[in-house]
Amino acid sequence: MEVGLKFAHMKIYHLKLNHKMLEGAKCAFLPGDPARVQKIALSYDQQARPLASSREFTSFLGYLEATPVLTISTGIGGPSTAIVIEELAMLGVDTFIRIGTTGAIQKHIQVQDVIITTASVRLDGTSTHYAPIEYPAVAHFEIVQALIAAAQALAVPHHIGLTASSDSFYPGQERYDSFSGWVIRRFQGSLKEWQRLGVLNYEMESATLFTVCSALGLRAGCVSGVIVNRVLENQIQEKATPLAEAKTIQVAVEALRRLLKTS
Ligand code: URA
Repeated sequence: MEVGLKFAHMKIYHLKLNHKMLEGAKCAFLPGDPARVQKIALSYDQQARPLASSREFTSFLGYLEATPVLTISTGIGGPSTAIVIEELAMLGVDTFIRIGTTGAIQKHIQVQDVIITTASVRLDGTSTHYAPIEYPAVAHFEIVQALIAAAQALAVPHHIGLTASSDSFYPGQERYDSFSGWVIRRFQGSLKEWQRLGVLNYEMESATLFTVCSALGLRAGCVSGVIVNRVLENQIQEKATPLAEAKTIQVAVEALRRLLKTS
């Protein structure tokens, strides 16, 4: 029995989706924020329509050219991201592109640039439930290639490389502008250390996404729009966020368009 058929009519627990609702979709865009789902779906299909909304998981289905493509929010962080991957995989989805936002930690990266992650430092907890910490969190090379080709074709300024993917926004990303203003010893000096090790940025889902997908034999990639450069400041540049998001969406959609042509 095909895996998705088990869920043909029965809705899967968290996402409130079934196999039939997906109309055969095998690819999904994964923003964190439910409020960004509709915008992403309408960017590749003016007729895209809502499927379900439960907790942090809001989903839309649209067609990219003739192929059904799901957009669904993961919420923030590893646990909810892993739920999305698990449940969509049970419904037959095998390709995931995260569309995120991020804080850069290298001086030369500008707010509103995009970052294409090749692999992530596993500062999350969820990925350790799927594979030991020695196992790498790596994006699928076909998706990385497609994201790079898309950013080049669209002339979107982009950076390619390593991401530190943290379960916490404040201490794990060495932020002192928090309630306590304090960071435990493990993370004191960590931003500088990641910088020296060539890491480009911080975000909160890619380590889980890559590890879970590799462990389950699925394909994943991640493109993020820079909304703060932590070398210069801690404050998110809210005014810069819409353009950073728009560029990231364009790159992700163009990458999937290219992937669909070749696979
Ligand atoms: N997302 C993060 O996880 N960190 C940032 O600094 C910005 C967005």
